[in-house]
Amino acid sequence: MRRWVRRGARVLVVVLAAGAALVPAACGGGDGEPIRVGFSQLSAEGSWRAANTASIRAALTPANGFELIFSDDEQKQEGQIAALRRFVADDVDVIAFSPVVEDGWEEVLREARTAGVPVVLVDRGIATDLPDAYATHLGADFRSEGERAGRWVREHAPGARVFELQGTLGSGAQVGRQRGFRAVAGEQVAGAATGGFTRAGGRDVTAAALEAWPDVDLVFAHNDDMALGAVEAVRAAGRRPGVDVRVVSVDGTREALRALAGGEIAHVVESDPLFGEQLARLLRRVAAGAEVPSRTVVPGGEFDRSVTAAQIDARAY
Ligand code: AHR
Repeated sequence: MRRWVRRGARVLVVVLAAGAALVPAACGGGDGEPIRVGFSQLSAEGSWRAANTASIRAALTPANGFELIFSDDEQKQEGQIAALRRFVADDVDVIAFSPVVEDGWEEVLREARTAGVPVVLVDRGIATDLPDAYATHLGADFRSEGERAGRWVREHAPGARVFELQGTLGSGAQVGRQRGFRAVAGEQVAGAATGGFTRAGGRDVTAAALEAWPDVDLVFAHNDDMALGAVEAVRAAGRRPGVDVRVVSVDGTREALRALAGGEIAHVVESDPLFGEQLARLLRRVAAGAEVPSRTVVPGGEFDRSVTAAQIDARAY
């Protein structure tokens, strides 16, 4: 457990033994003041991201005690770094961001730490050796998602030749899902390329992959938008999605679950973007200097062909 305590322009991170007493915080959110949160998001590359943004915006409202300063940084790390610097200059109470890639954050996180602004990682993680680079990380376990997709393939398509349709290279979601999948079903992978987590990218890259590896009969897509693009590419290549080429995916969007029910997608591992309220609770604790775990995993289930119309209609994204 860690606690972040702001002292003027300095932040102290205190590693606590279980059950240790708490110390009152010295930053925003007290005395009816809203907690000022600077949040850098990755634009809307697909329906998952749009749902995630909507969930966060709905939770970090003035009525809930927040002032949200939102920056849409369009998949660009330099844009996110600039946004983080603006938040530090603006002396927000907490910075939250979804890092587009894992590497390259040390300098700006050092600046935030020196300025005494705690940082919360949202959705994707980072790779760093910097001690106490961030206060906490809330997001799915991407490696486990990849493992679960791999287990389905091992069980239901052990002889399949797999094309791995990767997300944005170097992102936590790509790295984790690939690692997990390869750990379980790596020997079945014939080739891999990135579709950048977008539907158009998934379509174009799958079209090229089906020509490069004609024996591929299963696509593991790192997200639903790319999976739906892959289905289009399979059909355009004169092959039958779900029969000649199966598609396995991650996310659980309504459109993907419809394709699952219709037989075009074979299996979907859920990655839940609707954690705005959970983020709000965590941000309150960080702003108050309360203990927080260094990692909170957002859980997710799995969907197979038995998905019902009621489940599909109930999807919020
Ligand atoms: O980081 C989470 C991933 O990013 C989601 O699976 C995907 O849809 C989004 O683009």
